[in-house]
Amino acid sequence: MSTRNLSEKSITKAVIARNSKAESARFKTVITSLVKNLHRFARDVKLTEDEWNYGIDFLTRTGQLCSDKRQEFILLSDTLGLSTLVTQLNHHSRGKETEQTVFGPFHREKAPVYAMGDNISKGIRGVPCFVSGKISDAKGKPIAGAVLDVWHSDDDGAYDVQRAEWKGAMRMRGVFKPGPDGKFHLRTVRPKYYPVPTDGPTGELLKAAARHPMRPAHIHFMVNAKGYDRLVTHVFVKGDEYIDSDAVFGVRDSLISKFKMHKAGKAPDGTVVRTPYCTLHYDFVMRPAKKAGKKDGARKK
Ligand code: BEZ
Ligand code: FE
Repeated sequence: MSTRNLSEKSITKAVIARNSKAESARFKTVITSLVKNLHRFARDVKLTEDEWNYGIDFLTRTGQLCSDKRQEFILLSDTLGLSTLVTQLNHHSRGKETEQTVFGPFHREKAPVYAMGDNISKGIRGVPCFVSGKISDAKGKPIAGAVLDVWHSDDDGAYDVQRAEWKGAMRMRGVFKPGPDGKFHLRTVRPKYYPVPTDGPTGELLKAAARHPMRPAHIHFMVNAKGYDRLVTHVFVKGDEYIDSDAVFGVRDSLISKFKMHKAGKAPDGTVVRTPYCTLHYDFVMRPAKKAGKKDGARKK
């Protein structure tokens, strides 16, 4: 079939046909829908050439900002709600299992491995925070061999990577390996709300849409355990002023928890704390990994 003299009406079919010999059926499904919806979008808003040029420049600058320390495309996806949409499509909330939420750009590989009870925020200013919980399956059976990765912002809402003066040191993050009882506990400082980075194209978008860039205070957790789906989630601080307007749409009721304040004195780990401190208790419930060939869509919601 000739693809000469295409019009605004015939172009979409021609592009879809040109991709139709792709070997992978999944690729064909994805590229066909992408072309259809991209063209539908351009028709819908009657995209001008200036706007198309602006869009190309916006995406170019987004890519140029990406590095091993910064992922502007993920940030864009987060603020457009695409990350939460993909999380929800792939991890339907089900019963007692802990809900997933966005991964975010601040996780770092090879964080220090700590002994149970250790302080991951030594020397960092803030309200001391004692975190504890258990990792189990939906029947409450502890999961032996689970690996818990924790990371969060400090009392000023900054992650270690955002503090140039720390010269790449890993702080307020660490890996814990609970024993056969699945229990964990650690010490840190209470996190604070913070703005997502706004010095790039995503900031430009937020400004144009008259949106604030804030995320409510939270601690990130990732749990890996053999035979279970990887759990990527946060626990949010109950009562945070941004809890209902998270810039990246990641808050879920089941992930909001009280960071309970206590007077100065003996802390849960037996140490004496000279300032008021808080405690967070949160149990993580893992989902068994899918059996090969079984689709998630086949599960009951
Ligand atoms: C975070 O929680 O670390 C985060 C998530 C999405 C965008 C920016 C930051
Ligand atoms: Fe975060």
